[in-house]
Amino acid sequence: MDEDTIIAQMTLDEKAALCTGESMWTTTPLERLGVPRLTMSDGPHGVRRVPDMHAITAESLPATCFPTASCLAATWNVDLIYAVGQALGREAAALGVDVLLGPGVNMKRTPLCGRNFEYYSEDPYLAGRMAVAFINGLQSIGVGASLKHFAANNQEYQRFSISAVVDERTLREIYLPAFEMAVQEARPWTVMCAYNKLNGIYCSEHHELLTDILKKEWGFEGVVVSDWGAVHDRVKALQAGLDLEMPGPQPQRTQAVVQAVRNGALDEAVLDEAVRRILKIVFKAAQVAKGGAFDQAAHHTLARSAAGEGIVLLKNTGVLPLRTVQRIAVIGRAAKEPHFQGGGSSHVHPTQVDIPFDALQQLAGQVLAGNTHLTYREGYPATPTFDQALIDEAVQAAKEADVALVFAALPGFKESEGYDRADLDLTPQQVALIKAVCAVQPQTVVILNNGSAVAMNELIDGAAAVLEAWMMGQAGGGAIADVVFGVVNPSGKLAETFPLKLSDTPAFLNFPGENGQVRYGEGLFIGYRYYDATDRAVLFPFGHGLSYTTFAYSNPRLSAGEISDRDSLTVSVDVTNTGQMAGKEVVQVYVHDRESSLKRPYKELKGFAKVALEPGETKTVSITLDFRAFAFYHPGYKQWIAEDGAFDILIGASATDIRCTQTVTLRATRELPCLLNRESTVREWLNDQHGRRVFEPIYQNMRAQLTSDQIGMDMMGFMMEMPLASVLYFQQKDLPKPAEELLEELLHQAHAASSSSGS
Ligand code: BGC
Repeated sequence: MDEDTIIAQMTLDEKAALCTGESMWTTTPLERLGVPRLTMSDGPHGVRRVPDMHAITAESLPATCFPTASCLAATWNVDLIYAVGQALGREAAALGVDVLLGPGVNMKRTPLCGRNFEYYSEDPYLAGRMAVAFINGLQSIGVGASLKHFAANNQEYQRFSISAVVDERTLREIYLPAFEMAVQEARPWTVMCAYNKLNGIYCSEHHELLTDILKKEWGFEGVVVSDWGAVHDRVKALQAGLDLEMPGPQPQRTQAVVQAVRNGALDEAVLDEAVRRILKIVFKAAQVAKGGAFDQAAHHTLARSAAGEGIVLLKNTGVLPLRTVQRIAVIGRAAKEPHFQGGGSSHVHPTQVDIPFDALQQLAGQVLAGNTHLTYREGYPATPTFDQALIDEAVQAAKEADVALVFAALPGFKESEGYDRADLDLTPQQVALIKAVCAVQPQTVVILNNGSAVAMNELIDGAAAVLEAWMMGQAGGGAIADVVFGVVNPSGKLAETFPLKLSDTPAFLNFPGENGQVRYGEGLFIGYRYYDATDRAVLFPFGHGLSYTTFAYSNPRLSAGEISDRDSLTVSVDVTNTGQMAGKEVVQVYVHDRESSLKRPYKELKGFAKVALEPGETKTVSITLDFRAFAFYHPGYKQWIAEDGAFDILIGASATDIRCTQTVTLRATRELPCLLNRESTVREWLNDQHGRRVFEPIYQNMRAQLTSDQIGMDMMGFMMEMPLASVLYFQQKDLPKPAEELLEELLHQAHAASSSSGS
């Protein structure tokens, strides 16, 4: 039976019930018509399948805990993310899961968001590319994704109710593109709406967001599912485009839907549409056999390579990789109790866990010749207390060693789903420990486990090397050992800026909001866009990451010097491994618009590629840019536009390490409607192609009369910023007809010219 035949046979009660969960994790089955239930499970970086379908926090079945999104994004390796997605799909299918609740593509507006570890980046393009790869991998197995949390869920503070106040352009250019890219290129089975409000309306009831933009404009054909408990008014939510409410059952809500249809408040066609969408994925999921086993060992190995590629070598004076040392002091409890995932809904019950200390010991035996001796000191307590004795002990061990490896993990009480961070700092004891160890041991390597940027001002100078190992997943201990001993050459690059201090961060003055609102006052300028615009120094820029080898960029070239906004442009550059070790480099392409009618970020990431090179090897990297690489969203035209002019193509190894620049001239061919109105200023009239033509004679006349300095100012400059209506009003005596009439005539002519030219 197809969906329409089933819908025709369903009662109103059955339809309403299908649109609300049967349990915490399943949809409502309808045996009478052969409709099975659909099982969902968190996500995103591991399958958190709880055996009891009515439990929310119960311990889940064992599954591979892959690195969390921060770490995955830092790989900048879409093929690897695809492979992780596939592995997750296999595990989900084995554990009886039809839809995995991920990925999360919310932007890292501030490093303080407690849930940043579950999100990819501060950059929408990078987040979007990661999500596309992840979803394509997952869904290639026949397991659906749930792209979340739609939209503007960028903090945990009051996440169930706060209203994110975001202007239209910022929403379109920063907070929506990762969703847009993922929906259009990877077609996730479901999109999960966020808890919060967007500009005063709950996302679960946001018609413009769920229907106009997601379903109509982007062509989303899947199911919009609520975040767990995000529905307030079930009827309003359905009308807005929210198909499935989770969790269930919610008999009162279901009855409210039935009543609304009966009394005419809800069009049954709206309910049918939600039912159709749900049935479609229920049957799609049913085609994939569930159960069986997955290859735990192979997935653990994959988790190790993903972590290895996501680890970022932030600083290295040459101590890494360890080659000839004999005595290694391993300090910090995270070396024995690894902090490899975050707290909350994404918490996975791992199949096994690599203990960093053990992995180091094992690999030291294999890689280093002779007798290597590792000692361990705890360094800091598990609780927020301060214990000087632990520091003293660690310092003693560091003194007696050739090198110290200090593990510092940001504890769950400082960073988790459900609450935001209060600062960017490690714990006071961790900072004191690192400083004390560095003071006695110049060969100190700091290894960090955290989900988002941490401040390092106090410790960075003393450390010989710093490895950002993120929440690295269950195999992260092995991955750290791989990087420390050079079995893996680090190639991770930051997907987020590490600022010098909290007060430097873009949202500092507008976070976390008050009186129920958080105003996104920094607008488009988050992450590196902000640091560029304010010329502010950072600790480590977006895109930064060192390697044990070096790379040279040469021969940059573009496929054309001039293009139209309908063409694509290929950017190529030769990259050579100029060091002694095989390695991987991430080539980043940023676009800088030299001149634009609306203010734009100085540069924006629009392409990247990761390339593997043997020592001495050169490869050509080519990256294609399309219309969107040059465009910005114009709220006046309500569309993306690319304007005429010169664009610099910046090719770099990070946002601040631009190695080559090329320039292309773009010709805009898309006709745009005339935006002039009664409030338009003289400058706006002159900047509008049609407006200028009709207004030019009057303008020239005005100029002629205003050449002298009559009141000690530049009168022309003054007039430029006045509405033409006001200028005409003041000039009435010199006009051939009443100012009002003339303005109407000019407006009419400008608009008529614009529509006859096809815009
Ligand atoms: C989280 C979602 C999660 C859901 C189900 C919510 O609290 O925000 O990300 O998928 O719970 O656990």
